[in-house]
Amino acid sequence: MTLLNSFLAKTLPFIPKPIVGKVSSRYIAGTLLSDAVNVVKGLNAEGTMTTLDILGEDVHEHDKAEAVKAEWMRVLEEIERNRLDSNISVKPSQLGFRIDLDYCYNNLRSLVEAARAKGNFVRIDMEDSTMTTSTIWLYTRLREEGFENVGIVIQAYLHRSDADVRQLARMKANIRICKGIYRESPEIAYQERDEIRRNFGLLLRVMIENGCSVGIATHDKYLVEKAYELIQKANLPKERYEFQMLLGVREQLRRSIIADGHRLRVYVPFGEQWYAYSVRRLKENPQIAGYVLKALLTGNNT
Ligand code: FDA
Repeated sequence: MTLLNSFLAKTLPFIPKPIVGKVSSRYIAGTLLSDAVNVVKGLNAEGTMTTLDILGEDVHEHDKAEAVKAEWMRVLEEIERNRLDSNISVKPSQLGFRIDLDYCYNNLRSLVEAARAKGNFVRIDMEDSTMTTSTIWLYTRLREEGFENVGIVIQAYLHRSDADVRQLARMKANIRICKGIYRESPEIAYQERDEIRRNFGLLLRVMIENGCSVGIATHDKYLVEKAYELIQKANLPKERYEFQMLLGVREQLRRSIIADGHRLRVYVPFGEQWYAYSVRRLKENPQIAGYVLKALLTGNNT
């Protein structure tokens, strides 16, 4: 990143919210479920699968967790009603993780059960490292109860991930692998790009060799090519893997992965709580300065 880009990334909290909203609109389907349904229809028409994400995290009250659960039920119904090629990605902290783990489990279980009845699938997103052990416990408990329509996420930046993957591989887990988005300390997480890339490749190989189904979530061309190599070497059947990318990020790479004959799923976030997510995406955008300055000067983000 240039100096100006990294300066703007650091000062994002001071940039007016409407400007952040304009510049980040590419990353968000909209505030309403109907907005998200329209975006998914467009992506499905291009041969792209999707996963829906209701934005928002860190719920501390029962009534808010219940409201999120009810909204998720509506999402599952809309996917079925519109015959969308989409599953869902949920965050434990939306479903009561901060209130009580068993309560969170029961909410999650209801969703996974409802999804199973509709032939759908629930991915449990991975949040910060204080939640890793419990999130793996949530996933393992669901699998032990016989639910197959559920998946988890492993972050390549965490030192512990190798041991976690080997444990999860015993149950042929369905795992999304990503680099990891949260700020974690050097005691527990790799900090350098090359170390994280190397671990991503190693973990992906362990998953493939041990019969896991994998979601390869990255916009890093280097890792996409590494994944191609591993897929080819293992002669991996199409139903065992898919690529995954975020809405609005590196669309050219997305199209080239599909043109190369691989399955690809786009993560489609929507909802009222768009701000925190948008800031995270903007910080990762190497062209942030250009977009923000243009929006500031012209009120336009195209
Ligand atoms: P990297 O950040 O190096 O990006 C590679 C290149 O892509 C960059 O050089 C740049 O050119 C381009 N790029 C990246 N972001 C951009 C942007 N916003 N705008 C424009 N260009 C951009 N994390 C987590 O901790 N828990 C989770 O559950 C998930 N879930 C998840 C699902 C899916 C489908 C994806 C794709 C990602 C996640 N993540 C996540 C986020 C993930 O951990 C990671 O932070 C981002 O994917 C960025 O890492 P990359 O591998 O893309 O590499």
